[in-house]
Amino acid sequence: MDRIEILGLCGSLRTGSFNLMALRAACELVPNGMAIRPFERLGEIPLYNEDVKERGFPDAAEDFRGAVAAADGLLFVTPEYNYSISGALKNAIDWASRPPQPPLVGKPAAIMGASSGLMGTVRAQLHLRHILGGLNMPVLPRPEVLIREAAGKFDGEGRLTDETTRQHIRTLLERLKDWTLLIQRAAQSR
Ligand SMILES: Cc1cc2nc3c(=O)[nH]c(=O)nc-3n(C[C@H](O)[C@H](O)[C@H](O)COP(=O)(O)O)c2cc1C
Repeated sequence: MDRIEILGLCGSLRTGSFNLMALRAACELVPNGMAIRPFERLGEIPLYNEDVKERGFPDAAEDFRGAVAAADGLLFVTPEYNYSISGALKNAIDWASRPPQPPLVGKPAAIMGASSGLMGTVRAQLHLRHILGGLNMPVLPRPEVLIREAAGKFDGEGRLTDETTRQHIRTLLERLKDWTLLIQRAAQSR
């Protein structure tokens, strides 16, 4: 069986981002037969503008669309900004939702997120599920990985030290692997 290739998307552009740290942890915690490749150009994608698109997709947007198209599935690692996802993440989603052949449509996905507060990005994750539902993306329902009070869960080197959270991420990734295979099989049998 081929390896499942997952594109990892961190919605925060901050160098010291807890969500970036969580994505890095996920890259280490993948089950056998799966790999996560983080997309590193989110901050280079210009704001969506239909006029710009008329002249062709901007380089970073095209790169993102290609990375989504090539991936078997996606792992969104979202911060919570004002009860929702970050503008950077929404912008990238907008670019990859447009024709020709919108690459996000139908891709299996999972969501996790980290916040400094007590809610662990639950409101952002609900918004993200709503957005991805509009793109007909099958989003793994459970487990929900809500990393709250994130500052206490990573060490000075940005390593995820909280064992409970590490186990939640492991379980999420195992389920994402099964989920991706299930969706792929269903698509092949159509
Ligand atoms: C513009 C902005 C809005 C925020 N709004 C929320 C919020 O609604 N809920 C919340 O729990 N945290 C909120 N926060 C705090 C973030 O959870 C915190 O900054 C977190 O560390 C951001 O993720 P990052 O570490 O990956 O950059 C907000 C932060 C910013 C910069």
